[in-house]
Amino acid sequence: MAVNMIVCVAKDNLIGDKNPEGNGLLWHSKEELLFFKEKTVGNVVVFGKNTAKYVPIKLMEKTRDVVVISSKDRFEDIVERYKDTGKDIFICGGATVYKYYLENYPMDRLYISKLKDHVEVKKPHLPLYLPEVEKYGYKVIGCEEHQDFTSYIYEK
Ligand SMILES: NC(=O)c1ccc[n+]([C@@H]2O[C@H](COP(=O)([O-])OP(=O)(O)OC[C@H]3O[C@@H](n4cnc5c(N)ncnc54)[C@H](OP(=O)(O)O)[C@@H]3O)[C@@H](O)[C@H]2O)c1
Repeated sequence: MAVNMIVCVAKDNLIGDKNPEGNGLLWHSKEELLFFKEKTVGNVVVFGKNTAKYVPIKLMEKTRDVVVISSKDRFEDIVERYKDTGKDIFICGGATVYKYYLENYPMDRLYISKLKDHVEVKKPHLPLYLPEVEKYGYKVIGCEEHQDFTSYIYEK
């Protein structure tokens, strides 16, 4: 069982707004949502409490196991719960959760979608950023071009 992170970033690693509207994202890319779906369907998606307010949890539960994590939960318990299921765990944000796992948990793979310039990005009131993952020892091991984004895969 792998523990992966998946995230989409705009310029300067912008990932969202502290008090977002709509589905929480500052952009619209159906292609990138489909990429997220393709990677996570059949697996376990882990969201922080704030992100969970914007994600269509019920819809996602039809094809994925959804875990909304609080700071009181032990990640080891989640790993234990799914370790023999053949499913992978995807850490799906938001900003607080990404930072915590980058700092405290060695993940197998990071999938980072970097949006291309033509994708319109709304201006955030309180911008949230993904830290530079390189400073935690992750390196690019592959990349794939899509119309709206480039998908980078990182490993330690
Ligand atoms: N671009 C992307 O790919 C992407 C993906 C996901 C989210 N986002 C964006 O991220 C933003 C939300 O980020 P956020 O930082 O406000 O919230 P968040 O990370 O979604 O949730 C934070 C909450 O999660 C709980 N939590 C769980 N594990 C924790 C831990 N180990 N340490 C600390 N807290 C933990 C805490 O709640 P308790 O204190 O109640 O325990 C904390 O308040 C939204 O704008 C969303 O759109 C972007």
